[in-house]
Amino acid sequence: MSQQIAVIAGDGVGQEVIPAGIRVLSKLRPDLEFVEFDWGSERYQRTGAMMPDGALDTLARHDAVYLGAIGWPTVPDHVSLWGCLMPIRKAFELYVNLRPAKLLPGIRGPLADRGPQDVDMLFIRENTEGEYAGTGGLVHAGHPSELAVEAPVFTRLGVERCARYAFERARERSKTLISVTKSNASRYNYVLWDQCVERVGKEFGDVEVQRVLVDAMAARMVLRPDTVDVVVASNLFGDILTDLAAAIQGSMGLAASANLNPERRWPSTFEPVHGSAPDIAGKGVANPIGAIWAGSMLLRHLGDGTASERVERAIAAVCADGAPLTGDLGGTASTREVTDAILEALS
Ligand code: IPM
Ligand code: MN
Repeated sequence: MSQQIAVIAGDGVGQEVIPAGIRVLSKLRPDLEFVEFDWGSERYQRTGAMMPDGALDTLARHDAVYLGAIGWPTVPDHVSLWGCLMPIRKAFELYVNLRPAKLLPGIRGPLADRGPQDVDMLFIRENTEGEYAGTGGLVHAGHPSELAVEAPVFTRLGVERCARYAFERARERSKTLISVTKSNASRYNYVLWDQCVERVGKEFGDVEVQRVLVDAMAARMVLRPDTVDVVVASNLFGDILTDLAAAIQGSMGLAASANLNPERRWPSTFEPVHGSAPDIAGKGVANPIGAIWAGSMLLRHLGDGTASERVERAIAAVCADGAPLTGDLGGTASTREVTDAILEALS
């Protein structure tokens, strides 16, 4: 049976960049079957739910999920996200959010005197707990004494499984792993985090661990990106630092991510990082490269490293040419023109 990919293009520019990604993936792998779902904020307005009943069971029958963006101004963000993306990440134990950030030749990064040789980072963001655990509640709602509590949750199992994945990636690259925490101010969560990383590190004697506080890490990424290779961070710290990483690689429009269940018990989910971008949605000018790059991560996850590398080489070739590129990269090209160029570069 052919491999089946569930497609949730979702909101805003997700509707533009995911079809672009499908064009590229289908050219290399005509055997892949893309099954589209109209889930998202528009569906919420029509039916009161982002996804139908049984949505997760439906997704679970696919080999992977290809997702565009969730979130639109007409639906409160916490409602749309907790109605679609969060349940997917949690139910499928997609505990690794893998986010490469690489400055490609031909792309102008924002850091003065820094080029492609300085920026090649791989983030492993814990993706199911931490500050996104969903633990909390509201007391005295609507009264002047209203109180909100939202407690981050860190478990030994959760941190260790993510750390183990990060050590494995570090072992394949520079053999150094930066673990980002805030264990000076935090006395519990990040102290536990450090202990878990240390414990797992004993299985990886050949990998050096650097513990870096998140505030110092933000500065280091800007000042010394050349010293940053593989990074493991909690859910929220990873979220923030990977937007910074995306900026350093030249544009949010280039950033790709894989939400992985490394045990392959559930389908992993592949998505660009940029979001629904209401300001440019519907104009056909969104950068499709983040989505196409996420597609290449999907191909790799399906076991097709050759096709994955072809996609990444085609992206690199178009960037190296300096055109056609979309507005976020200083160009004037449309989503379609960039996608056409990448398709061309594949052959
Ligand atoms: C991301 C996004 C999400 C996150 C939002 C949309 C909830 O910013 O994938 O980085 O914070 O994880
Ligand atoms: Mn984010």
